[in-house]
Amino acid sequence: MHILLTGGAGFIGSHVAEKLLQEGHQLTVIDNFDSFYDKDIKEKNLSSFIDKVTFYDWDLADSAIIQQLENVPKIDLILHLAAKAGVRPSIQNPSSYIRANVDATLNLLEFARKNGVKRTVFASSSSVYGINQKVPFAESDAINQSISPYAASKIACEQLAHSFSHIYGLSITALRFFTVYGPRQRPDLAIHKFARMILNDQPIPVYGDGSTARDYTYIDDIVQGVLGAVYADHQGFDVYNLGESKVIPLKTLIRELEHALGKKATIDWQPMQAGDVPFTYADISKARAFLGYDPQVDLKTGLKHFVEWLKTN
Ligand SMILES: NC(=O)c1ccc[n+]([C@@H]2O[C@H](COP(=O)([O-])OP(=O)(O)OC[C@H]3O[C@@H](n4cnc5c(N)ncnc54)[C@H](O)[C@@H]3O)[C@@H](O)[C@H]2O)c1
Repeated sequence: MHILLTGGAGFIGSHVAEKLLQEGHQLTVIDNFDSFYDKDIKEKNLSSFIDKVTFYDWDLADSAIIQQLENVPKIDLILHLAAKAGVRPSIQNPSSYIRANVDATLNLLEFARKNGVKRTVFASSSSVYGINQKVPFAESDAINQSISPYAASKIACEQLAHSFSHIYGLSITALRFFTVYGPRQRPDLAIHKFARMILNDQPIPVYGDGSTARDYTYIDDIVQGVLGAVYADHQGFDVYNLGESKVIPLKTLIRELEHALGKKATIDWQPMQAGDVPFTYADISKARAFLGYDPQVDLKTGLKHFVEWLKTN
């Protein structure tokens, strides 16, 4: 297949690109090196495959993209992973999140419907569940309790996708990723940030009392789920959770990270931050049934791989 992959210079996108190339697909990759984190890191992410793809440094939020894409050879599937990620920064600058996430998704949907691209798969987020109290979070739960502009932007993307699918008969799959970690993890995310600080003898800021909990998902499992969605014979709009379906309290995460690093953390206790949800927990039965999703990597093993990568990078 010829796949248009967006966000290919990012953490998840670069892993997905490598896997799709291994499986023999042709890739056109778009990424604008958004300033959310260092361009050098993204160039390094790209380095293992840039010579095997067609790469464009284009801003998907610019509506000119719709015409620019018309010059690209026929696309079989759009895999849209680009976004401004990160919950807390979205509170400081919400409009940039609406632009990078909602406008960009709308432009791709417009391109898809004008040019007959029948299938789109895109990254949503566990954050759409907000302060949902029902566990585990299932795709059928209402998503009307978001607590950050980032989460709200992802809900808007899902709803736009649903509308386009309904009106134009496009096949669109939204994948709700649950806190993804592993080699090349974004530097702003807790595991990466904490690990670097512990190694540099800096105290780690822990918000709340350490009881917040996340369903941490190893990158190889996410890649397997994304590939499952790419190959699924799918009609209409649908949404799937991709998590490990295991809840890890922050205190446990820090203990396991200390173990993987072979070093104790010093904790700088801080009040809870706006935008942070108390817990996430994925019901993955739907992805198991329809995408063949089958996560394999437990936290201990995943952290071991992450720390090995961090120490050599
Ligand atoms: N990492 C996680 O834990 C997690 C959890 C839930 C959802 N997600 C979603 O998964 C996707 C990938 O996340 P990630 O962690 O790899 O983030 P990332 O920041 O590493 O990758 C996203 C990439 O998108 C690019 N991008 C941003 N805005 C763009 C634009 N307007 N035009 C072109 N490119 C643009 C960035 O430069 C970046 O390289 C995102 O959609 C994110 O919201 C991630």
